[in-house]
Amino acid sequence: MTSSVSEKAGTLVDSISARCCRLEWAANDAVARLNWSRPRLIATCVTIVLALGSLVSLTVSYVMFLDLAPELPYIMDSTTETPPTRRLAAHAQNETLGFGGIAYLSMPYRTDRQDAMELLASVYGLNFTYIPGVDGSSIVEKSKPLHSYWLRPPELGCWRAHVNAWRYLLESDFETLLVLEDDVDFDVHIHDIFETLSKQMQHNRIRITPPTEHERTAAPYGLDWDVLFVGQCSDHSNDDRLDLVHIYADPHVPSRQDTFFHFIGQMESLGIKDRNFGMMRAIAPSWNPVCTMGYAITRRGAERLILDISYRGITGPVDIDIIRKLQQGIIRGYTITPPLLSAWRVDGAKDSDNQALEKDQTKLGTGNLNGYSTSLKMSARKEMVKILELQNWNDIQRVLPPRANPMMTAAQEAEEQDEQSKAGAEMQEIEEAWRKRKFEMGRIMEKWGG
Ligand SMILES: *[C@@H]1O[C@H](CO)[C@@H](O)[C@H](O)[C@H]1NC(C)=O
Ligand SMILES: *[C@@H]1O[C@H](CO)[C@@H](O)[C@H](O)[C@H]1NC(C)=O
Repeated sequence: MTSSVSEKAGTLVDSISARCCRLEWAANDAVARLNWSRPRLIATCVTIVLALGSLVSLTVSYVMFLDLAPELPYIMDSTTETPPTRRLAAHAQNETLGFGGIAYLSMPYRTDRQDAMELLASVYGLNFTYIPGVDGSSIVEKSKPLHSYWLRPPELGCWRAHVNAWRYLLESDFETLLVLEDDVDFDVHIHDIFETLSKQMQHNRIRITPPTEHERTAAPYGLDWDVLFVGQCSDHSNDDRLDLVHIYADPHVPSRQDTFFHFIGQMESLGIKDRNFGMMRAIAPSWNPVCTMGYAITRRGAERLILDISYRGITGPVDIDIIRKLQQGIIRGYTITPPLLSAWRVDGAKDSDNQALEKDQTKLGTGNLNGYSTSLKMSARKEMVKILELQNWNDIQRVLPPRANPMMTAAQEAEEQDEQSKAGAEMQEIEEAWRKRKFEMGRIMEKWGG
């Protein structure tokens, strides 16, 4: 029994090694010359196979998770097709994250929030342009858009401030503008996160036209959209077109437990598999994006928004109105889930400037330090406190430890004084020589000048 098992095992090993090493044994000469024992040959074979296997799987996972843009939905001549350019995506590393500019809205009296925004911008290498928020009750009747009579003053002010941001884009020479509200928070790797997004946006599944030459060279996110939602509070997808959802890997996606529950449901409905939580984001056609805390617009988008949400009148608060236009299909948008920007909440809704907040409403709680945001792996507002932390006296102690005997003896002190006066005398001599030289030079110049 035992012997038959071991015989079988032997045959198996033989056949495996025969198969596995057929190549080597075919090229037998070399091996024969090596004169290796069979176990040694088998061990070598197994090592080679394992090494090759892990190389292949590493390559496959690298390609799958990092670099490969999914198949393109539109038809394109394969000879002119170029892969997403890293060079273009790298524009996201600049001060405006690869957009033409970044503007943020803040009520003029919220200097506390403006301080925070400028601090964030400086610490993370960003350039934020301030656009003042508008007090809705200051808008005169004649200037109000059609059908705006039922909006509350804060909603009207919010609408006005966003239209001013859209106008800022039209007045600039930018092609795109990222619009933020002043309570935004983001991951410390914001530049890398937008660089990853750029690679995907250049070849996303939702495009219906191939990128133009100009887009390929100068538009890191393409220009085939009006609005790009990167900081919504929630969105629901267009259930009829779930086939368009484009899922991509991003190493800075928050884990499931760090993700706001609403986005978990949203990610599941967009088709992100449970095992891919904390690794993947989805780009979907915008359908129901709530909040205007962080979104980008293109020049064409700003034109359409001003036309539809000012010139023609309005149908509701600005974010609800944008949703209507998206669902009607008269503007085109993309939403990123989970979003790349999140709100920094201090003292709950009481800190909001458009939810029934009066200008002089008293603030409760402990302010910024007790604030929080969700759905970020590493909150920029939290990390910035650590980044700026200094322990000056400890650093001095470490680099310049105090001298062993700070109290000098009288003899040492006399010696030091002596050295100092010697140095002083030397200095005087040098200065004297320099004065003389200057005087000589002056005379020469005078002579030549005369
Ligand atoms: C950042 O890159 C974008 C896209 O190329 C460009 O339009 C923008 O001017 C750049 N911003 C800065 C501050 O260089
Ligand atoms: C920030 O952007 C504005 C508007 O584009 C520009 O005028 C300003 O010089 C920039 N600031 C810095 C520090 O780059």
